[in-house]
Amino acid sequence: MELNILGLESSCDDTSAAVVQNRKILANVTANQQIHAEYGGVVPELASRAHQQNIVPVVDTALKKAGLGKKDLHAIAFTSGPGLMGSLLVATSFAKSLSLALKVPLIEVNHMRAHILAHLIEDPEQKTPPFPFLCLTVSGGHTQIVRVDSPYHMHILGETIDDAAGEAFDKAGKMLGLSYPAGPEIDRLAKKGDPHKFSFSKARVPELQFSFSGIKTSILYFLQKQQAQNPNFIAENLADLCASIQNTIVEMLYEKVLKASEQTGIKHLAIAGGVSANSALRIALKNGEENGHWQTYFPKFEYCTDNGAMIAISGYYQYLAKDFVGLEVQAQARKKITL
Ligand code: KG4
Ligand code: ZN
Repeated sequence: MELNILGLESSCDDTSAAVVQNRKILANVTANQQIHAEYGGVVPELASRAHQQNIVPVVDTALKKAGLGKKDLHAIAFTSGPGLMGSLLVATSFAKSLSLALKVPLIEVNHMRAHILAHLIEDPEQKTPPFPFLCLTVSGGHTQIVRVDSPYHMHILGETIDDAAGEAFDKAGKMLGLSYPAGPEIDRLAKKGDPHKFSFSKARVPELQFSFSGIKTSILYFLQKQQAQNPNFIAENLADLCASIQNTIVEMLYEKVLKASEQTGIKHLAIAGGVSANSALRIALKNGEENGHWQTYFPKFEYCTDNGAMIAISGYYQYLAKDFVGLEVQAQARKKITL
C-alpha cells in the first residue's frame, strides 16, 4: 500500500510542509522568515506570527506540487518539540485541526530525531546508512552525537554543555557584522580565506561532550584587541577570520566524532541539522573517510536545515509502528530524543 503523509515543521523560523509517499518525497516546501535578519537572531514573537501567515499557503503549495488532495492523505505528522513554544504551537494546532477534519491519524514527531531520520528518505541524491550508525546532529539549537540502532531506537552518546555549533557560527558572525543566520555566510566567505591564519582556543571537555561558549569569548577578546590597533581589522581580514573560525569549530566536531567512532567501533557516520550543510565540515569528514575511519553519509542540502520532509519521513516510520497521538497532545519546548 502507498502511504501519503503530510509533515509539518514550525519549531523555529522556517515554516515547512512536505508530503511523502512511503519513503519518497513528493513535495517539500519551505517559507524562510527574512524578518529576523535585521535583529541578529530569531525573535520568537515575530516567528510565530510569520508561521501563522505562512502555514496555509505552504501546505497548499506542498499538496499541489505533490499532485494530491487533502483526501489522499493517510496521516498528519508535526513537530511537537523541541523548539520555540509560540512557533511550535502553529504546526501543532494546524495538524490537530487537519487530522480531526480529515479523520486521519495524528503523529507527533521529535525534531531532533527527525533531523536524523532525514537520512532514510529515498532520494537519488543521498544514500541511506545501514544500522547501527552514528549521527552528528549539529543545528542552531543542538549539538549531539547519537547512536542510531533503528528508526525507533537512538541513544545520545554526547552533547553540548552550553552553546550549539550553529549558535557558535551565528554569534561569531554577529561579531563580524554578518546578518543572521551567519553560518551559510561564514561558509561562503571562508572559501577565500586561510583557515590557519588565526587561532582560537578550544574548550577541553571530557568524553563525547562539546562546549562552544569559550570560543565565542576567545573570538570577542581577539577582535577587541585587534580593532583597538586597527579599526578596519575585520573588514581587512574577513575571509581569513571566517575560515579560521570555521576551521576551529569543525576541528572541535571532528575530534569528538573520531572518539565516538573509536569507542563504539561504528564506522558508518551520518551528519544532520543545519550545520551539516557546512562545506568545511563535509570536507573534513570526507578526509576521515579517505583515512579509513568511517564511511560518510551526507543528507541532501534541502534536508539539512529545518524542513517538512524530515517530519514526513518520521511520520511514515511512526505510522508503520502505529505510534499515533490524540488531540490532547501538546507542544513541548524541551523534549528529549530518547523514547
Ligand atoms: O537545523 P537548523 O535549520 O535549525 C535548528 O534546528 O536550529 O540549523 C540552523 C543553523 C544556524 O545556526 C545556521 O547558521 C546553521 O544551521 N547553518 C550553517 C550552514 N547552513 C546553516 N552553519 C555553517 N555552515 C553552513 N553552511
Ligand atoms: Zn533543526
